Parts: sequence; C-alpha cells; structure tokens
Amino acid sequence: MSAEIIDGKAAAARLRGRIAAQVEQLKSEHGITPGLAVVLVGEDPASQVYVRTKARQTAEAGMASFEHRLDRNTSEKDLLALIDQLNADEKVHGILVQLPLPKHLSEAVVINAISPEKDVDGFHIANAGRLATGQDAMVPCTPLGCIMMLRERLGDLSGLNAVVVGRSNIVGKPMAQLLLRENCTVTTAHSRTRNIEGICAEADILVAALGRPNTINADWVKPGATVIDVGINRIETPDGKTRLVGDVDFDSVRKVAGAITPVPGGVGPMTVACLLANTLTACTRIHGVSLPA
Ligand code: GUN
Repeated sequence: MSAEIIDGKAAAARLRGRIAAQVEQLKSEHGITPGLAVVLVGEDPASQVYVRTKARQTAEAGMASFEHRLDRNTSEKDLLALIDQLNADEKVHGILVQLPLPKHLSEAVVINAISPEKDVDGFHIANAGRLATGQDAMVPCTPLGCIMMLRERLGDLSGLNAVVVGRSNIVGKPMAQLLLRENCTVTTAHSRTRNIEGICAEADILVAALGRPNTINADWVKPGATVIDVGINRIETPDGKTRLVGDVDFDSVRKVAGAITPVPGGVGPMTVACLLANTLTACTRIHGVSLPA
C-alpha cells in the first residue's frame, strides 16, 4: 500500500481564496479592513522567514499588515507598552508576537498581555481555558490546520483513536483538546511515555509534534492510519546541504499509512492560512458582523 499524500499547500490555497473573498465582502459591505500586527523581537533567521511569509500572505488576502521589528535587547516594559498600543488600535484586529522570544523576556507575561479577543495565536490563558471548557475560543493555528485537513480527509472523526505525540502548549495540548472536541478517543504521548511505539500503533489518527527529525517509522503506524506530521526540522545531508524534514520518517511510513502530510507542503502552509482565518474571525467578532461561510 502507498499512502495518499495530503496536499496542505493546495488546501491552504483554497482556504486563502475563501478568506480573500470574505475580506472583500467585509470591505465593500461594511467598510472594514481586517488588520494583523506581527511583532518580532531580535533577528532569529527562522522567525524572520516566518514573519515575512505571514506579512506577504496577509496583504495578498486583502488585509492590512503591520510589522513591528524590535531590537533583541528590547525591555519587557517597552514590549508591553507596544502591546498595549496595539490592543487599543482600532485598525488592528489580530496581534501575533513571534516566538521564541529572547531569554530575558517572559513569554507567559507577554502573551497574556495581548487582549484575548485579538490573540490570533490562541496562546492567551483565557483562550486556552475556553478551548479546554468547550467555549468559543481563538484556536492555535497549527492544530486548527491539522483538524481541517483531518476533517477534509476523514469526514466525521467521532470514535476514532487519536494519538498526539508531544505536549507543547503551542501544538500538543491544544491538538488533544480539538480532537476531543471532535469526539475522538485521545492519548497524549511524550518523551516519558512507556511503550510509545505500541501506543502509536493503535492510532487511527497519529499527530507527530515531538520536534525530533525522522523519529516515527513504519513500526509505529497502524496500517491505513492517517498521519499528520507537524515537525519542521532542518537537517544536514551527507553532501553538506540542508533539507527540511518532519518528525515522521516519510519514506518508511508512506508504505503503511492510509494518508500522510509531507514536509514541506503539509501542515506548514495550513498554519499560515489559519492565522489569516483567525484574524478574520477576530475582526468579525470585534465588529459584531456575521458573514456567510
Ligand atoms: N513560533 C513557532 N510557531 C509559532 C506560532 O504558531 N506562533 C508564534 N507566535 N510563534 C511561533
């Protein structure tokens, strides 16, 4: 058997198209332009690439994009002052502070200073709590993109065994909450889990978010399972070049899985498209406008 390759790039392009049409409608019928502010502290090369991609796609969807690049030595006080200013800015509906932050800044303090209704990352404790208790929340972009791809491939997820490998606040924990909301039977596995391979091999849905390149191979995967690879790891190849790989050993797993997301071109593009979707959601909630789906 050879797995179906889930084309995240194409799914993201379709989602961006739907968002752009709704943005156009918001502008023409309500005179509102959704705006996203992205804050980058320091010069981390990977973060710079992400921020550039986010800004370009925001503009392409017809939204306003505001970029704030701050020196790596920026104080917490100055960063919090900028967040206060963005919280109060009526042109800004979404605020994203790119992580990781330099060590002298507390991510928890900074994230929790963002107004929950503008927290398009869904990282604020109010949004994490709302998600966990089944209330309307801003949902973190990567898990939201994963759920969309799963629903597109599998339809109703009710009753399926889902295993999430990884327990980060950004991916693992919200992913488990979302799968629970879809009525899956959910197991969260991590570095201390006993018999992790055997537990994964029971999964109808396997989400890999452990942050270790090429770790999950065919022995961990139930035949026919749907495998979502959240990992983005840059590795050096024998010829001295670098290559992006996931947490899943793609060539091995594709022989047993029913469907699998590739890296690149799987979860990554959907994450950015979901950021645009969350910005649109934040904007319509703030203005009390409802748009047809
Ligand atoms: N760094 C890596 N992933 C993310 C993300 O989804 N949001 C933010 N703000 N920073 C990140």
